[in-house]
Amino acid sequence: MKRKVTKAVFPVAGLGTRFLPATKSIPKEIMTLVDRPLIQYAIDEARAAGITDFIFVTSRGKSALEDYFDHAPELEGTLRRAGKTELLEMVKATNMDSGAIAYVRQNRPLGLGHAVWCARRLIGNEPFAVILTDDVIAGETPCLKQMVDAYAELGGGNMVAAMEVPPSKAPSYGMLDIKEDMGSLVAVSGMVEKPSAEDAPSNLAVIGRYILTPRVLQNLNRLKQGAGGEIQLTDAIAEEVERGEPVWGFRFRGQRFDCGSKAGFLQATVAFGLARDDLRDELARYLYEVVALQKAAQ
Ligand code: G1P
Repeated sequence: MKRKVTKAVFPVAGLGTRFLPATKSIPKEIMTLVDRPLIQYAIDEARAAGITDFIFVTSRGKSALEDYFDHAPELEGTLRRAGKTELLEMVKATNMDSGAIAYVRQNRPLGLGHAVWCARRLIGNEPFAVILTDDVIAGETPCLKQMVDAYAELGGGNMVAAMEVPPSKAPSYGMLDIKEDMGSLVAVSGMVEKPSAEDAPSNLAVIGRYILTPRVLQNLNRLKQGAGGEIQLTDAIAEEVERGEPVWGFRFRGQRFDCGSKAGFLQATVAFGLARDDLRDELARYLYEVVALQKAAQ
C-alpha cells in the first residue's frame, strides 16, 4: 500500500484537568501561544504536510472548537467595513471549508487508542496521520511534513515521531525498543506505554505525531485495556511490530514543547514570543531584566 497521507486525526476530547480552572469553560486546545490557539498550530502543520481531511475527535463541552473553525460573517463584515484588511485575512485563514473538517464524539474517556478508534469510519482503508495538539513542535520544516516525506520514501508501515528523553521521564511517554538505529530513522522492535525508568527499553520516546496503517484501527477493535487502564494507541502499534510489520521511529528536526504541562506551555509562550518580530525586543528586554533581578537576589 503506497498512498499519499491526506487524512489526519486530532484527538481533542481530553478534559484538560491540568489547566483547570481555565479549562472549566474553554477547551485546552483553544488556549493560546501568543495569539494563536494550540489547535491552529496543529492544523497549520497538517496543512503544510498536505493533509486535506481533518478529523476531530471531540467530547461534550468542546463546541468552542467547532465555532473557531467556522466562518464568522459578522466579524469578517465588521473588519472589512473598518478596512482592517490584515486582521480580516488572519481571521479568514482560520476558516475551514465545509466538508474538510469532520467531528466525531468520543462519548467516554477511555484513552488515546479509543479516541483514534472512534474515527475509524472516517479514515477508511488508507494510511492516516494523528496529531496530538499538546505537542507543539517548532522547526524550519514542520514535523509532520518531515514525516510524510520520509514515509513516502519508505512506501508503507507505521511511523511515530521520536525524541530522546532522560530516563526519569520514561513514565510519561510511549517508549521505543530499538532494532536498528539509522540516525533520523529508527527501526522499532517493541513499544511500551509509560514504563518505569528501570523498565524503559531505551531513552527514545514517542512524541505526538503518527502515520499509521488502517491495521492499527483493527488492532484497536478489541478495545483492550493497557497502561493506566486505558486503551492505548502505543499497544495497537506494538501489535504491528509483533506481526512483523515495519514500525519506524522518526527523529524530527525541531524543538518540541510539552504544552500539556504548565512549565512546557510557559516555555513555548516565551519561545514563540521571541520568534515574533513585533514582540521580540520588548519581551527579550523584560526577560533580561527578570533574570538580572533574580541573579541579584541570590
Ligand atoms: C500520549 C501517548 C504517549 C506519547 C505521548 C506524547 O501520552 O500515549 O505514548 O509518548 O502522548 O506526548 P499522553 O501525553 O497523552 O499521556
